[in-house]
Amino acid sequence: VEQFFAPKLLAGRSLLLTAGPTREAIDPVRYISNHSSGKMGFALAKAAADMGANVTLVSGPVNLPTPTGVNRVDVESTDDMLNAVMAQVDSHDIFIGCAAVADYRVADIATDKIKKSATEMQLSLVRNPDILAGVASHTPRPFTVGFAAETQDVARYAKDKLIRKKLDMIAANDVSSPELGFNADSNALKVIWEKGEQDLPATDKLTLATQLLTLIAKRIDNA
Ligand code: CTP
Ligand code: CA
Repeated sequence: VEQFFAPKLLAGRSLLLTAGPTREAIDPVRYISNHSSGKMGFALAKAAADMGANVTLVSGPVNLPTPTGVNRVDVESTDDMLNAVMAQVDSHDIFIGCAAVADYRVADIATDKIKKSATEMQLSLVRNPDILAGVASHTPRPFTVGFAAETQDVARYAKDKLIRKKLDMIAANDVSSPELGFNADSNALKVIWEKGEQDLPATDKLTLATQLLTLIAKRIDNA
């Protein structure tokens, strides 16, 4: 009953977040992508809306329903995702980069289907822009939160990303475990900010999303 009457933690806040994979075309019928399901990002969108935030979810191709009350923008490539995010960043005060963004795209997308010929072929790739680092260096800057998908030295690599991308907070994911992370329904996070860190032990993604958003709300109020 008390909780029913308590003010919602993210009332009056607006959250912009990315979710799912991005997809980089090779030719009209093929692409490069990854195994991200979008579940963690969609759980964050749902939890934030339930906590009273105005939520815009920029999503790569996923097979998930839009949470009630969430404003969803669908994109495919990293370039599309960057454009959608930059068009929305000024009207939001929190950003969470939860998408598994393709680090590289195909240098020259073939306009026609590539025919097989030789027994070997090469694809030339170029680095994609970093959406999260772009948001963090934008003025005015939202409270900027990143994810870090790691298979080893989780805390060290995550801290390095926090500093290098000038983030307010990073949520690190050990994706080497098949029961947790990427396609799974549960996850565990190590959340790190400049002056502290907290482990959020394995649980379902909606519970974890609420816990992460509660940490974010506390940090914003302390800033
Ligand atoms: N990210 C992004 N744009 C990119 C690459 C990553 O916005 N082009 C964001 C992801 O959404 C995530 C964070 O950066 O919030 C970290 O992604 P991750 O793949 O763990 O790190 P990278 O910086 O890409 O480094 P690496 O893959 O080499 O570990
Ligand atoms: Ca990456």
